[in-house]
Parts: sequence; C-alpha cells; structure tokens
Amino acid sequence: MRISVIGCGYLGAVHAACMAELGHDVIGVDVDQAKIDALSEGRAPFFEPGLPELLKTEHGRLRFTTDISEVSRARVHFVAVGTPQLEGSNAADMRFVDASIDALLPHIGPGHLVVGKSTVPVGTAARLAEKVEATGAELAWNPEFLREGFAVSDTLTPDRLVYGVRRGDDRASDVLDEVYRRPLSTGTPRIVTDYATAELVKVSANAFLATKISFINAMAEIAEVTGADVTTLADAIGHDVRIGRRFLNAGVGFGGGCLPKDLRAFQARAEELGVGHALAFLDDVDQVNLRRRRRVVELVAEELSSELSGAVVAVLGLAFKPDSDDVRDSPALDIASQLALRGVTVQATDPEAIPTAQARVPALDYRVNTKAAVDGADILILLTEWREFRELDPAEVATWTTARTIIDGRNCLDASEWRAHGWTYRGLGR
Ligand code: UDX
Repeated sequence: MRISVIGCGYLGAVHAACMAELGHDVIGVDVDQAKIDALSEGRAPFFEPGLPELLKTEHGRLRFTTDISEVSRARVHFVAVGTPQLEGSNAADMRFVDASIDALLPHIGPGHLVVGKSTVPVGTAARLAEKVEATGAELAWNPEFLREGFAVSDTLTPDRLVYGVRRGDDRASDVLDEVYRRPLSTGTPRIVTDYATAELVKVSANAFLATKISFINAMAEIAEVTGADVTTLADAIGHDVRIGRRFLNAGVGFGGGCLPKDLRAFQARAEELGVGHALAFLDDVDQVNLRRRRRVVELVAEELSSELSGAVVAVLGLAFKPDSDDVRDSPALDIASQLALRGVTVQATDPEAIPTAQARVPALDYRVNTKAAVDGADILILLTEWREFRELDPAEVATWTTARTIIDGRNCLDASEWRAHGWTYRGLGR
C-alpha cells in the first residue's frame, strides 16, 4: 500500500520504518529539515534499538521529505505528531495535530484514509472527521501503545490493534486490515470500535499503568516508616494473577514523553467534560510520583548528614528509563537538577542520554562513564536501571572512589552483595 506518515518523531519515524518493513511504500513527512536529512541518510535522530537497521534495509521503500504535497501519491495517511503538555496548563497542546490535518486537506480526497495515531483528548477524532470528510476522504483513529526501547517490536508485533471508525465504516477497517495484514495473520487481537472508545483506550491504558506504579510507590512510603521491604511485597502480591508483577517496581517513579503528560491531559479533558471528579485520584497518582523524586534528595541529605551545598554526588542514569536517550520529564534528570539547585556538584553519566540531558540542563558536570562519574564523589545515586549499572561490581567500584554509600533509586541492585563489600546501601521502600 502507499502510505504517508506525518510527523517523524519517536512515534512517526518508527511507524514509517515499520510500515516499510511490512512491505508498504512509505513517505515520511516532517517540518524539521535536520530530522529529515538524518532519516534520509539512514540515521535515527534518537536512540531506539533496531531502528537504524530498519532505516538502512528499507531504503528502497522508505523516503522522507519536508514537502507535504508528496503525500498525494499515498492513500493512507498516518498522523503521528506530538501532543505535548500546554505551557501553563495540564491540557494537551493540539497545535501540531490540527496543523497536520490542515496541511493534509489539500492533498486528500475520495479513496483516501487519514489515520490518527497521536494521543489526543477524547472528542478530537469526531471534531477532525468533519474537516476530513468534507474532502471525500475518511478518518480512523488507531492509537499506538509502543514503549520506547521496544518501539520497533511493539509496532511490528503489537499486543493488540484498536481501530476507531465512524459507526459502520467497514471500508476504513478493511483498509487498516490490509495495512496490518502481517501482524493480523499471526493472531494479533483487533478491536474495531467508535472514535471515543479508541481515544479512551489509549489514555486509560496509560492512566492504569501510571496508577499501578504509583500504587507500589505509595506502598514504598508505608514500607519506609514500618521497616517493610516493598520489593518483597511486590513479589508477593504480584503472584496473584489478578494483580501481576509487571509495572510494580518501586523507585523514583515514572517519567517520559507519555505517562506524565497523558495523565494530566486526561484529567484536564475530564474536567472540561464536567466529570473531573471521576479522575480526581489521578492527581494523587501524580503527587505520589513526584514525592519519590523529593525523597531521593532527602535521602542524600540524610546520608551525608551535612549541608547538601558543596557535596559531590555521582548520578548514574539520566534517561527516564533504560535503552532510551529520552530525558523528557525524566525523574533522574529532575533529581539531578534539584540537587544542583541545592549547591551540589552533580557528576552525571548515562550510556546514551548525555547529549539530550546536556541540551536541557547544561549546569551538570557530565562524565563519560561510571568510573569518571564516581571519582571524587561523596555518594552514588543510581537513577536509571541500565544494564551496565545493574551489573556494577561493588568491589571494583570501591577502587574507583572513596565514597561508600549508594542510593539505589530503582531497587535494581543486590543489596546484600553491596553491603558485603562494605557499602551502605539505601533502596526506596526497603
Ligand atoms: C508508555 C506506555 O507503556 C506505552 O504503552 C505508551 O504507548 C507510551 O507510554 P514509555 O513511555 O515508553 O511507554 O515507558 P514505560 O516503559 O511504560 O515506562 C514509563 C515510566 O515508568 C518509566 O519512567 C519507567 O522507569 C517507569 N516504571 C515502569 C516504573 O517506575 N516502575 C515500573 O514498574 C515500570
């Protein structure tokens, strides 16, 4: 099929490359010339495992351009632009979605299908459908559930496909079935529903995941005042299949370009709809999450038992999660910044996220690796559970620094092993 993808960020670039991998002829469009140049040369503009390989192998069927008029050859147009949090408000900034649809309108007509993938406030598809249908084209909403770090496999082998279509629009779902023929042939569940349900599937899935993480982090707060161990607690309750162990890792909490802002946008939309009370609990979910970041700063102060100002702290991890260079709303970068604001010298390292972190927070002392980061530090804090940090050898680290205290913000180290090597180990909720 001939497909266009509008927006070549984390979502769109991966989607475009994966659509080519599925055998389609794809044109990716973005207004950012530098991004288009990189993608055209087969370089991923951000760190995502598997994407560079796809960009190289799919060269023949995959092209990128800044010229929106080139989409007219395609028949299916995916809209994959960002919906960031609006400055000074909890609501989503719909500017890029609206601009993409307006830019598409002159190039579409009967026989074309516009497919929204961006995460949007419920009611958006119905609003946009009027404009799209005025050209004779149709609109569907097909939310994505990809996780950064697994974006390629989540797109090629999704755990479900959701199509929001106009009631009774069989043609739109037939076209999407054709697009996703390969994943469907392996039995991927497919749910065809109305616009509002499809939009809500996405935001409610994210709200549920955020709630699950904040639930266990709330238990961590209780564990801290009772001497309980939240990790053992999570293991024990996770054996109940109704609860499940995944997304029950207590630590510095969730961040990234999706969960935090989607949570807030969902609340803002519910308030507009007059049902803000239904999502009032999400405010607590957000607050529990932010309190964990402050807790790490408190722990550092407690362990140093002196003024924070003037201390040297080694920060291991800046990305919001491992296998990503994304520092948007990253708990790690937030904690590092809070420490720096309190007069701490922050020697920070990350396997991939130093350039992205540096662009946002230039004031930290960025170090190339763990050895350089811990050199001369008073205390170590692990904030992103990259494999190379999880596998640190406490005996070896002790030869790189005189510090003997580590705060494990992701509860991912073997506490007894670190203690056996003379370290003071502090986890969160343990
Ligand atoms: C998320 C959703 O998982 C995905 O379905 C949606 O499409 C986009 O948002 P992503 O932002 O890539 O994906 O990250 P995810 O793997 O969900 O992790 C989110 C945050 O939660 C990370 O900061 C992670 O460190 C944190 N987390 C996750 C925890 O603190 N504890 C856990 O047990 C799991």
